[in-house]
Amino acid sequence: MLHRRFTILSMILTASLAVSAQTPTTLKDAYRGAFHIGVAINSDQITGKDARGTAIVAEQFDSISPENAMKWENIHPKAGKYDFTLADQYVDFGEKHHMFIVGHNLVWHSQVPAWVFQDDSGKPVNRIELLRRMHDHIFTVVGRYKGRIQSWDVVNEALNEDGTLRDSKWKQIIGPEYLIWAYRWAHEADPMMELNYNDYNLENPAKRKGAIDLIKILQQNGIKIAVVGVQGHDHMNWPSADLEEQTILDLANLGVKVAITELDLDVLPTVPQATTADVSYHVESDPKLNPYSKGLPDSVQKALATRYADLFKVYLKHREVMSRVTLWGVTDADSWLNDWPVKGRSSYPLLWDRNFKPKPAFDAVIQAANQGK
Ligand code: G3I
Repeated sequence: MLHRRFTILSMILTASLAVSAQTPTTLKDAYRGAFHIGVAINSDQITGKDARGTAIVAEQFDSISPENAMKWENIHPKAGKYDFTLADQYVDFGEKHHMFIVGHNLVWHSQVPAWVFQDDSGKPVNRIELLRRMHDHIFTVVGRYKGRIQSWDVVNEALNEDGTLRDSKWKQIIGPEYLIWAYRWAHEADPMMELNYNDYNLENPAKRKGAIDLIKILQQNGIKIAVVGVQGHDHMNWPSADLEEQTILDLANLGVKVAITELDLDVLPTVPQATTADVSYHVESDPKLNPYSKGLPDSVQKALATRYADLFKVYLKHREVMSRVTLWGVTDADSWLNDWPVKGRSSYPLLWDRNFKPKPAFDAVIQAANQGK
């Protein structure tokens, strides 16, 4: 009798251990089968100098994006001079850990050195020459990582808030068709990789409409946009879960997948115009704008966790059309939001704190997956 009781007890124990062993504790395991879970990594994480950050990336994520390593000013700083040192290490890191590797980005209005748009006398370069430079850049960079980078943000942030085309130097000198050439050449350079269009504030209806019209024009020109990247530089009260859901559905209607490409959640007081992610926008510092310099109150920590969970529930609900959700940084210390739009603030937008400890928001994101499957 006693023996039988022990047998039953040990069966129950084994079963409960099996259940807890199956409950994922990493982001990539929790969301496996739904979509990739990615993270943007900086130079210290690429090289391993930030050993603790690098360990989190390897353990938790199955996709990476280069926060800055592949931007034009870093990879192609001078005419005819490419520097692939960091970019090569980035791709090696992703391959070593069997990750889905993203390229960010090829054609952007920002972080492009002045020489690209100038001729030898400093005057604006002519259209044919700028097309030639863009062709050279795309073929050299995409070609170098052909078959190794699975997904490229080909054109980044081409739209204004009202949905019209941004008056970038690319548009001024080449004309709106610069987008068609960029996608055509990126596809020719590596026909197997995914072509992405990536932008912020696509939740804003006017900008979303502009993006939808733009993707349709590209599609009419024979370009297969695989993914529209909704950056996701979000705030505590914007976008609402409903607005996020509508955005995903509207974009997926184009026959593309949707990715959240640069997710972070700003808990700091917003300043006028800070709902954009325009890197050139800056505001004078003011202690009132930096209320959590000594730490994040529990109530805000909890609210952040709830907000993260609410968004992940939406992503999970639409997993059939979602290809990836990428966090824009590992720990709060890494975030660009410590310096934008106000320099030197203490920001708390990510899933790990400044001591490399997972925040309640991390647990909430894991729980959202376990509940949603
Ligand atoms: O590496 C230099 C360093 O050598 C120098 O001493 C230091 C002095 O300020 O600057 C360092 O470069 C900075 C770089 O980040 C690395 O920290 C640049 O000044 C700074 O402009 C750059 O900011 C990046 C920004 O894009 C502009 O490229 C942010 O880290 C990065 O998070 C941000 O990411 C963008 C996406 O690419 C596109 N969508 C919006 C998103 C947020 O702005």
